Amino acid sequence: MTKYIIRGGNPLHGEVEISGAKNAAVAIIPAAIMVEGVCRIENLPQISDVATLLGILKEMGAIVRFVDKRTVDIDCTNVKMSHATFDAMRRIRASYYLIGALLGRFGSSHVAMPGGCNFGGVRPIDQHIKGFTAMGAKVSIKNGIVSAETNGRLKGTSIYLDVVSVGATVNIILGATMADGMTYIENAAREPHIVDLANFLNSMGADIRGAGTNVIKIRGVRSLKGGFYSIIPDQIEAGTFMAAVAGAGGRVVIKDVIPKHLECISSKLREMGVMVRSLGDSIIVQRTVPLIGTDIKTLPYPGFPTDMQPQIAAILCMAEGTSTVAEGVWDNRFKYVNELEKMGASIRVTGRTAIIEGVPCLTGAPIKAGDLRAGAALVIAGLCAKGETVVEGISYIERGYEKLVDKLTALGADIKSVYMPDESSLLNKDAG
Ligand code: EPU
Repeated sequence: MTKYIIRGGNPLHGEVEISGAKNAAVAIIPAAIMVEGVCRIENLPQISDVATLLGILKEMGAIVRFVDKRTVDIDCTNVKMSHATFDAMRRIRASYYLIGALLGRFGSSHVAMPGGCNFGGVRPIDQHIKGFTAMGAKVSIKNGIVSAETNGRLKGTSIYLDVVSVGATVNIILGATMADGMTYIENAAREPHIVDLANFLNSMGADIRGAGTNVIKIRGVRSLKGGFYSIIPDQIEAGTFMAAVAGAGGRVVIKDVIPKHLECISSKLREMGVMVRSLGDSIIVQRTVPLIGTDIKTLPYPGFPTDMQPQIAAILCMAEGTSTVAEGVWDNRFKYVNELEKMGASIRVTGRTAIIEGVPCLTGAPIKAGDLRAGAALVIAGLCAKGETVVEGISYIERGYEKLVDKLTALGADIKSVYMPDESSLLNKDAG
């Protein structure tokens, strides 16, 4: 088992480059199923969720060829099956985007129920099913397989989402891209990765308007043709580094970002006494004075992102005064709180709100990540804490952060990724 060993206390200094956005990449890769010919995708993050999805496409008959570490050519011309029921599907959330993409291409799909981070509550897909059903598909779930069938093609219609859902918005866009007629998604999610997916599809010949607003209009087209596309920078990776500098102190230039996507994170950090300045496609973050507590509520974009909630909570643990962190997207995203408490944090969770009393410092401890963003939060806590922190559950972190240890080391952090046999395997060896 790999663990991160962190000796906290080093301020961060220097420059870091942000990778392509995970949540855009995991929507764009399945979308390539609908494209005839080669689509070249640039600025792909080197993370395990991307590797898993590319592996799934290959199993389905796609030709996947890396041009360099961040650029891949995908040719799905030879994909003949509308089934995607491999075990790998259950490891990631975004595998469910194959439902929309396969429905778009073949008019039917049989896809394993998705896995992905489980941060505490259920992750329903009723809004995805509502959308496909309204477009004429018969959808059923049996033995962990979601099956959706049409008489030929999905039919465009108006769909009102009862909750603002990134996944349902993406899936319905995918299905509608090659449907008959017009589809309107009302109360759509507005996240930057929704806009990126629409831009990708439009650059391949789709007709999608309004992405980035809460009404998206999609006129179905008969085919999509290959082309080039470069993925946007990862808003949450950038925000994670911003929180790390705010927590550990120092001054870092965070490069290759879209500052507009980071506005809500920047303004919250400013309220906490952190200097944040944008310069072209970089953000400069500097902290020299103690952090001040604040209140945060997560909301769909352009609100404060839920995927930054654990990282900000981690640094609020060391901020002066009382802070509140209210989760407005997920039912429960506070499982990581127990781990921060092992480091001396003072947090009380009531319902969907965490009340944090700032303490002068955290102390290193052995802790375990239970999901991707919780893992990032624990790494940040380790960077700020006195003494040694050992973080387990690294596979979650590597699902969504490219070369996190290398990037932090280059900024002066003392963090190592170390392979350690777990105790049970040592005991088995002794016994054997
Ligand atoms: N929801 C429903 N019904 C549905 C779908 C969603 O009730 O059919 C509810 C959820 O339970 C939740 C809310 O709607 O309360 C929002 O869920 P959403 O569908 O937007 O989440 P998602 O698409 O499953 C994506 C990201 C998550 C991120 C959320 C919210 C991907 C692959 N995942 O998940 O990212 O937290 O949007 O922004 O894009 C992460 O990157 O760490 C991560 C978990």
